[in-house]
Amino acid sequence: MPKKSSNEFSLVTSGLCHSFGKGAATLEVLHDIDFTMRRGELVILMGPSGSGKTTLLTLVACLRRIQKGHVQLLGQELSGASEKILTRMRQRLGFIFQAHNLHSSLTSIQNVRMGLEVHGPDALRNWQKTCGRVLELVGLGDRLDYFPAQLSGGQKQRVAVARALVGCPDIIFADEPTAALDMVTGRQVVELLRKLADQRGTSIFMVTHDHRILEYADRIVKMEDGRIIEDSSAKILMK
Ligand SMILES: Nc1ncnc2c1ncn2[C@@H]1O[C@H](COP(=O)(O)OP(=O)(O)O)[C@@H](O)[C@H]1O
Ligand SMILES: [Mg+2]
Repeated sequence: MPKKSSNEFSLVTSGLCHSFGKGAATLEVLHDIDFTMRRGELVILMGPSGSGKTTLLTLVACLRRIQKGHVQLLGQELSGASEKILTRMRQRLGFIFQAHNLHSSLTSIQNVRMGLEVHGPDALRNWQKTCGRVLELVGLGDRLDYFPAQLSGGQKQRVAVARALVGCPDIIFADEPTAALDMVTGRQVVELLRKLADQRGTSIFMVTHDHRILEYADRIVKMEDGRIIEDSSAKILMK
């Protein structure tokens, strides 16, 4: 492992590879990924469909087992980590996916409450106040008791963002979070993530094809065929 496990880095991968399939049908889809992310950094990962973005995200977000190479997440080595450790790590993470994945039978505030449940009974004390505050933060203070079917696409995605935020995660992983949103709501969602990175030091790892939001990133990383082909400061690329 490189000596990059200090507090400064929330994520360090080295020599990370991943394969799907068995025996002769085994196909390596990630090759030797070396990647770092600092605390409070908003990193955007881009690349053609099938280039390995989601696979990389699920590996570093404790949603998939590490087969080869190393991942240090918030100082914890994930390779060979027990299920107990992985569960504890997931409690420090927030997830936002393309489809908002809200429960249709729960109201906004009840959906956000799900984000607290992984933290145990103590976290649920005063849950109404906690969840209401986060929904206010995402501009939905007047939609607490609405069901998903009563909300627009952008509002649903903001509920999903609130659910990811409510447990005060150290890192948020987002896979194409704005893909289903119009420009204005897409920007609102990313502006919110940017604010979290700046104000709380939350690291944000976001996969996107959405060129409209690149300006919010600190760094833009590009993948192709399972490799990182570019890793640049966003400011340089935007010029
Ligand atoms: N569960 C799986 N089983 C087999 N192959 C998969 C699986 N998930 C992804 N792949 C393959 O791995 C490669 C990378 O996929 P993915 O990480 O989803 O790419 P991206 O998110 O960049 O579109 C693709 O060739 C895809 O077909
Ligand atoms: Mg994907």
